[in-house]
Amino acid sequence: MKKLNPQKIKKDFPIFDGQPELVYLDSASSSQTPQVVLDAMNEYYTGYRANIHRALYDASQRATNAYEEARKDIARFIGADEKEIIFTSGATASSNMLASMLKQYLPLKAGDEIVTTVMEHHSNLLPLRKLAKEKKLVIKHIAITDDFELDMKQAEKYITTKTKIVSVSLASNVLGTVNDIKRLGALAHKRGAVMIADGTEAVGHIPVDVRALDCDFLFFSAHKMCGPTGIGILYGKKELLEKIEPSVVGGGIVTKVTKTEIIYKPAPERFESGTPNIAGAIGLGSAIRYLESIGMKAIHAHTSKLTALAQKKLNALPGIAVLSGKRAGGNSGIVSFVIDGMHPHDISHILAEENVAVRAGHHCAMLLGEALGYPATTRASFYLYNSEKDIAALITAIKKAQKIFTKNF
Ligand code: ALA
Repeated sequence: MKKLNPQKIKKDFPIFDGQPELVYLDSASSSQTPQVVLDAMNEYYTGYRANIHRALYDASQRATNAYEEARKDIARFIGADEKEIIFTSGATASSNMLASMLKQYLPLKAGDEIVTTVMEHHSNLLPLRKLAKEKKLVIKHIAITDDFELDMKQAEKYITTKTKIVSVSLASNVLGTVNDIKRLGALAHKRGAVMIADGTEAVGHIPVDVRALDCDFLFFSAHKMCGPTGIGILYGKKELLEKIEPSVVGGGIVTKVTKTEIIYKPAPERFESGTPNIAGAIGLGSAIRYLESIGMKAIHAHTSKLTALAQKKLNALPGIAVLSGKRAGGNSGIVSFVIDGMHPHDISHILAEENVAVRAGHHCAMLLGEALGYPATTRASFYLYNSEKDIAALITAIKKAQKIFTKNF
């Protein structure tokens, strides 16, 4: 495995040219974009902009080919078949779409159960809540342990023959903890339930192979993995997608419509009605080729090293609680923390004055805040362009914040 050089990698990202002093520790919120991705999208807009799947002139053919090549890139990246890759506008759209489709597809009755966890992002949790309300389902939330891992003993108890859906994040957007989807999926499948993985904080950060995970569905967004905003993926096993009807309908998804009949195209076309985000898909394909050129194992090894170092340095500070998955290699590059006597928003404000960009607040995971006993935290997240120097800048800025607060209060 090649060791990556973050200083060299930084040169691929134009934002750091313009702002060399920027310490960007907020990739879990949205990553930066390399020049190759911007070039790929620009080339589409300036060289062959046209709609896809609808015409035979040169630009349209090129656009269709580039869009479908991107689908192949995504399939290869997560170990799927290209027919299993649906383009959406992002993880939130994917998970809402999936919940609506499962509402039609699964024989759900009042009292049936959904098993999820307290560490879910609202984009996974809220569509499940909506579905549960509509179909009168019961939701069970797997708790976390003191090590910020899922309580797998509880998972074993919660997943029963009443369970119809198990939906869990592959990596937590607050703790970074990488969850054992394979084991949860095995429990779900044993009981005849569907296994969904929210891959938003994992894909592009750790190596992901849907066949190895054996999840039925996986969704994620491009903007957290060097791709553009407004584009995401819903992966579904072919045998399931073939049986499921689309929840969003419109142009481009049928082979026939009469006054009495609709015949949908096969998957994935049947799930992509309307003109999609063509440039976004092309940008995501380019982001994937960029990540592959560096190597996902090398990227994960790099962020794991930075995460462990940040945990160690933060833990050495006074009055701090560090909230982050500690298992070696079991974190997607995220460390959250709280400091005595300082609100996370104040910390992030002082850090911003030092050019250190972090996120503060509930991180759209309010059940986790409740479980941790901290409704708000400050979060630092690491990616391929971060280095040990960035961690040193984070620690220096936190020390400055602590000094200011001790002085004033
Ligand atoms: N889901 C993103 C985050 O965790 C926005 O910050």
